[in-house]
Amino acid sequence: MEIPFAESWKIKMVEPIHRSTREEREQWIKDADYNLFQLRADQVYIDCLTDSGTGSMSDRQWAAMMTGDESYAGARSFFELKDTITRITGFDYVLPTHQGRAAENVLFSHLVKNGDFVPGNSPFDTTKGHIESRHATAIDCTVDEAKDTQRELPFKGNVDPAKLERALAEHGDRVPFIIITITNNTAGGQPVSMANLREVRRLADKYGKKVIYDSARFAENAYFIKTREPEFKDATIKEICRQMFALADGMTMSSKKDGLVNMGGFIATNVEDWYEGAKKYLIPFEGYLTYGGMNGRDMAALAVGLDENTEFDMLNTRIHQVQYLASKLDEYGIPYQRPVGGHAIFVDAAKVLTHVPKEEFPAQTLAIEVYKEAGVRGCEIGYILADRDPVTRENRFGGLDLVRFCVARRTYTDNHMNVIAAALKNVYDRRESITRGVKIVWETELMRHFTVKLAPLAD
Ligand code: F0G
Repeated sequence: MEIPFAESWKIKMVEPIHRSTREEREQWIKDADYNLFQLRADQVYIDCLTDSGTGSMSDRQWAAMMTGDESYAGARSFFELKDTITRITGFDYVLPTHQGRAAENVLFSHLVKNGDFVPGNSPFDTTKGHIESRHATAIDCTVDEAKDTQRELPFKGNVDPAKLERALAEHGDRVPFIIITITNNTAGGQPVSMANLREVRRLADKYGKKVIYDSARFAENAYFIKTREPEFKDATIKEICRQMFALADGMTMSSKKDGLVNMGGFIATNVEDWYEGAKKYLIPFEGYLTYGGMNGRDMAALAVGLDENTEFDMLNTRIHQVQYLASKLDEYGIPYQRPVGGHAIFVDAAKVLTHVPKEEFPAQTLAIEVYKEAGVRGCEIGYILADRDPVTRENRFGGLDLVRFCVARRTYTDNHMNVIAAALKNVYDRRESITRGVKIVWETELMRHFTVKLAPLAD
């Protein structure tokens, strides 16, 4: 018999979690105004809200915590982190920040001006926010196929070179840089191919532009390059990372994802002007140059985490688990963004709750039903998240209406994946009977999904 696949780690410390009853969950979600962000975490059995800062550290990372150097300036832990980042990315200048959006805030304060245009694939919400708050425009040049959830392509996170070239030709002088998000979270955790990164570099050079990678899940992206782009099948993950970053001028990083830590971020670049410019904002916004919002012990753990997560076995275990969950959904016929990406399943709610009108928010309705079914918390990535049009104040129904179920790194077992899949199956099996969704009773103007209050519409 063939020896089956198993995790490349064993468990040394556990945290108890509790199953609740449907009656308890019905009360809790009502008390939370039908907003899953408003639940207390101990009212959740399996938390798939995000893969950001929710993973487990290794024994080596915890050991590194004990040796952290907490010096205000010039801490050894900073230099350990910097050397690791330089070894993995090739970037010499490193500035730590407290998380990814802080890296964006610091670097964009130097680079983005009123009236600028920033093209790339799909910018993450905070990236877009940091561009738009400076009265600049983010241009999403992702390939059109990303919008068709049932289309199977190996690199659905790619940039459409024709769209990118159009943006560069049209806005020439007003483009401070191109930003590519690896993997493309907004498009479903979909990877970007090395061929596409090369094409972006070619266009950037043609128009004299620089390139930044939003690198939150860069190691997962490297894994997909290795397993899906034949040229790289024998390359190590670290070799692929060096080649990816060699095609960029700098990066912003949320270390809470592929850094395998619970909090942290950084900027890394080879452009001296970017480094000098960002330094001026790092000190007032985040902290001194050699800690920038991070403890010495956290920088020490991050250095180890980056090293561990750029090894094939670690990534293979992780992606295998996400693909295992996807295979259960295939078995039950539940539609999701295909092929499954690196960190999450994005269920296509519009194709599941076909009787719930879009005005009643099918994805949010599905997320609530799955929570009530088994205490599994997903996140609506749909019409509520999309906010209202700033001019017409109408809801924006133009995009996809998805529920994201993230898989935290090294945290849950495949048995937990079975529970998530079974909860979805039970809701899917009674989808025809779900005909009404929710209405908004209170909302904020921007980023309403965190605090929105909802009420169920009776059948
Ligand atoms: N870029 C990407 C692609 C992200 O997914 C995130 C965060 C950030 C930047 C910002 O990083 O949270 O450290 O400030 N994504 C989380 C998520 C919140 O749930 O997908 P941060």
